[in-house]
Amino acid sequence: MAALPSLCNSPPPMESQGKKGADPRPPSNFTDLISTLPLEEGWAPLRIRKYQGFWIPERVLQGIMDMQQNFKARPDDLFVLSYPKSGTTWLKALTYAIMTRTQYPLDHHPLLRQNPHEFVPIMGITYAKGEASELEAMSSPRILNTHLPYSLLPHAIKSLGCKLIYVCRDPKDVLVSRFHYNNRMRPQAMEPIPFTKAFEMFCEGNCPYGPIWEHVLEYWEESQRRPEKVLFLKYEEMLGDPPRIVKRLAEFMGCPFSPEEEKEGVVEEIIKLCSFDKMKSLEVNKTGKLRPDFVLTNDSFFRKGGAGDWRNHMSPEMARKLDRITEQKFEGSGLTLDAVDVEAAATNGDVQAQA
Ligand code: A3P
Repeated sequence: MAALPSLCNSPPPMESQGKKGADPRPPSNFTDLISTLPLEEGWAPLRIRKYQGFWIPERVLQGIMDMQQNFKARPDDLFVLSYPKSGTTWLKALTYAIMTRTQYPLDHHPLLRQNPHEFVPIMGITYAKGEASELEAMSSPRILNTHLPYSLLPHAIKSLGCKLIYVCRDPKDVLVSRFHYNNRMRPQAMEPIPFTKAFEMFCEGNCPYGPIWEHVLEYWEESQRRPEKVLFLKYEEMLGDPPRIVKRLAEFMGCPFSPEEEKEGVVEEIIKLCSFDKMKSLEVNKTGKLRPDFVLTNDSFFRKGGAGDWRNHMSPEMARKLDRITEQKFEGSGLTLDAVDVEAAATNGDVQAQA
């Protein structure tokens, strides 16, 4: 197989890259500022604060401010970006598998033993834990993740021209996914959030990292301005044509599949390895946890997969209302939510995420 360009020089797994344990540098102290920011408690146990136009979970806000000031980007860093519950875990698995495909045989790949989030760290959480040195210890090229909107990214990521990959998803399915994820975080003694309340908060934009529309539009516009640096994907397109998306990802990352690889079925193997069914079936993703102090087990990242579960949660009026907001917000931007795919999902019943 031909040697791959530099971005695909496989980085070792995250666990072996940095030393575990708290960063000796104390994070900068922003608590006075944070306590003055508008607060929304409807997603309890999550508390979210409005910071520079977006609702950020309070528990990572200090880490994010620290990161905005101190993150040292490298020109060959690759960023996986998303509004949460849009397919981040899948995109992490795909980019990591594509990048490391010559280092590990795909049938013995580390993704079979560890959760994708272990290889592509969530920068805000790492900073919030005072463990920024773990990111610094990672060898290049790094794949890193944040849910921050484009306007809140650390400046160096933009000025160095790092490559960004963003995934968006039908807001109706994002809301349903968030609703279930959030309710799983609730202690047993706490009532689940009523769906109507979650719907209301989501429509108002008062949702972790919301409003979703501004989040999506910022990356969409940047992808139109700098297509060679910002790749904008839709979850529904990924479901509809995984081979096309995986090849597109590899090209964008600077490590396209060779004709030999395509003939040997490497694209299909990567799709299978990262598929919802495969990932969900792995022991690490059934019972494992990212960290001992994390409330949720890894199975919470693999709920149902697919498009169209909103039909099982929303009345047609609710769906119309949310669609109308989306249409109004996106008007004039050139961005449409893949009406064809989403409609097909609706008429065929749920489109499931399978290999
Ligand atoms: P559902 O809750 O609708 O099932 P994120 O990773 O951004 O938190 O997004 C989570 C959503 O992506 C969940 O949606 C989850 O099931 C889905 N997902 C996770 N892994 C996936 C995969 N390999 N293929 C398709 N969808 C996946």
